[in-house]
Amino acid sequence: MVIRIAAVGDVHLDEDVVGRFRPALDELHEHADVLLLAGDLTRHGTEAEARCVATEFGGLGVPVVTVLGNHDHQCDQVPQVVKVLEDAGITVLEGDGVVLDCAGGRLGVAGVKGFGGGFAGRCASDFGEPEMKAFVRTTTQSADALSAALRGLDCDVLVALTHYSPVPDTLAGEPLEIYPFLGSYQLGQAIDSAPTALALHGHAHAGTERGTTPGGVRVRNVAHPVIKQAYSVFHLGDHLDQTQVSGVGGSGIQQTWS
Ligand SMILES: [Fe+2]
Ligand SMILES: [Fe+2]
Repeated sequence: MVIRIAAVGDVHLDEDVVGRFRPALDELHEHADVLLLAGDLTRHGTEAEARCVATEFGGLGVPVVTVLGNHDHQCDQVPQVVKVLEDAGITVLEGDGVVLDCAGGRLGVAGVKGFGGGFAGRCASDFGEPEMKAFVRTTTQSADALSAALRGLDCDVLVALTHYSPVPDTLAGEPLEIYPFLGSYQLGQAIDSAPTALALHGHAHAGTERGTTPGGVRVRNVAHPVIKQAYSVFHLGDHLDQTQVSGVGGSGIQQTWS
């Protein structure tokens, strides 16, 4: 049993970018059963940019599931952005999940945008000023929602989809000073609270592709500037294999490793 998952984040679409991903996306159904988008679909979260996303990622012939990123919130048009995406057949997750019937089994995807806060020994705490408490509680509520969504799915293979990172591993390359704004250990704890097979995130453009939660769940940063191709494909079965598919900025080389 193998489920093939294509994933990319941080495509940051606007009118200038439309069409750049499409040639690789038109072939996606040959390589993958589903496409997961890890947020920052747009540059500034406008309804017009969301229509660019709908044009680029709509009608692919496979289910498309996304979370939003911080950029998708910038213009306070989240309801409009979500409606445009959903009208294009894209499932938008925020504290919930979806189960997809794939040829290789039932794939469960639970998603939240997530938030910052930092990582063990270097994190913000729920203490002091109301603003700091609000910051930390935003992360806590997001992580709690992710945990509940993951644990609520009845499926064969479980994947967590976030924009912010659940681990520091995949931030390597980013300045240490901004780690607390790139992710939170609480997301990692949420992922470890369920039998998660794979955790995908974006947001850290200068980060690293591979990491692991404290509980041993494999984490992949699929931000487009990191994977440097239209999407990566993960084969989830008894093992995790990753197939590099040529695409935007790709080398044209296909390779598989475990
Ligand atoms: Fe981004
Ligand atoms: Fe981001």
